[in-house]
Amino acid sequence: MPEHRALNLVTDLPRHVWDSVFRHPLPESDLGRAQTSFTNFFLHLHPVKVHKHTLKATYTFGLGLIATFLFLLLAFTGLLLMFYYVPSTAQAYDRMLDLRGSVAFGTFLRNMHRWAAHAMVGVVFLHMCRVFFTGAYKAPREFNWVVGISLFLLTLFASFTGYLLPWDQLAFWAITVGTSIAGYAPLVGQKMKFLLLGDYAVGQEALLRFYVLHVAALPVAITSLVVIHFWRIRKDGGLSHPDEGVAPIERKSPLLPTKTYGVMGFVRGPILKGADDDATVFAWPDLFIAELFVFVLTVAVLLVVSLMFGAPLEEPVNAMHPPNPAKAPWYFLGLQEMVSYSAFWGGIGIPTIEVVILLLVPYLDRGRAGVGRWFARQRLLANILFTTFVIVNVSLIVIGTFFRGPNWTFVSPW
Ligand code: HEM
Repeated sequence: MPEHRALNLVTDLPRHVWDSVFRHPLPESDLGRAQTSFTNFFLHLHPVKVHKHTLKATYTFGLGLIATFLFLLLAFTGLLLMFYYVPSTAQAYDRMLDLRGSVAFGTFLRNMHRWAAHAMVGVVFLHMCRVFFTGAYKAPREFNWVVGISLFLLTLFASFTGYLLPWDQLAFWAITVGTSIAGYAPLVGQKMKFLLLGDYAVGQEALLRFYVLHVAALPVAITSLVVIHFWRIRKDGGLSHPDEGVAPIERKSPLLPTKTYGVMGFVRGPILKGADDDATVFAWPDLFIAELFVFVLTVAVLLVVSLMFGAPLEEPVNAMHPPNPAKAPWYFLGLQEMVSYSAFWGGIGIPTIEVVILLLVPYLDRGRAGVGRWFARQRLLANILFTTFVIVNVSLIVIGTFFRGPNWTFVSPW
């Protein structure tokens, strides 16, 4: 009956649409679990199976994932803010007031963007610490550590360029101080500063440059590096774990013939090189549920913090009246503190040496003992050195933030 067929078409429509998107029902077999990760665009970023250790919350504390989610939330809230913002010295501050006064959820949106940006700087730093203290930068992950350091620097720069956009006193003077630090570099310092500001002082050209860097260049650069970072995690055999042992790393030359397997053919055997089957679990559902949990937690904390605390907005820019002291954003206050002792060494010399040493860490520290475990005894010296690095830098930031008053004199915060 034609009417019958027409009715079936209508009643079956939802199922046909669903099946066209999700090719398999919820999995009940190992093959189904493998297919779920393998055939879904978003899930196939993951391997079909991961080492059990990957799911241990106290190993990664989900920090890399939290950084990823914060970045996605920043992109989303940033895009919405772009509908209202105008990068002009005549309009930017008024737009901030409009956001507060006449845009539905405008303040909340701005709070979310601001707190997520601060949180991302902190979380990426903590993620770097976790990678170091678990020895996860060692072969074969040396290059991913280097990609990570680049991501850390880009994260700082993205946060810094966003800081100027509200065009209030806090923004203006923080960027004036921050960019004057860049000017201390020998030979190229002033040229670099001019390139960044488009002028000799912070003004319209700087606002436009910071805006373009903040909304286009840096997000694209970070996205590209995050993609490479994730791809390398897969190629380096998943996350580090203690079973990796101390065997030397075999690196296959791309010129040598290598045997390849279809992943589906593997699902009953060990997928991770060197791992026995008992040590692995299917990504579906264990890993995905853990990731969903981290996502929900990240969003929930950000929502609560953004409801409770407002992003600062001070008086409009007054280029004739610097606050005393004029402070850089908090993550550069360690640099500003060092600059108060020596402009060149504090602003350029020591930070450059620190970054170069950090980049070289995996190439200098070649032993494989202690990988995959927090504070392994075999890595005592490396851990002491890195802890000293962390304590010194965090202390400098704390001093610059809380213990410095007018003319950068020492004040007690109590
Ligand atoms: C935008 C910044 C970053 C994002 C979004 C990011 C994301 C991630 C994610 C999701 C993971 C896997 C889960 C985890 O370990 O928590 C990971 C692992 C890793 N990350 Fe990052 N990361 C970033 C920055 C960094 C930095 C600053 C470093 C180090 C300097 C770094 C080095 C590594 C390494 C070596 C691994 C593999 C760890 C292992 O095998 O145990 N990443 N990253």
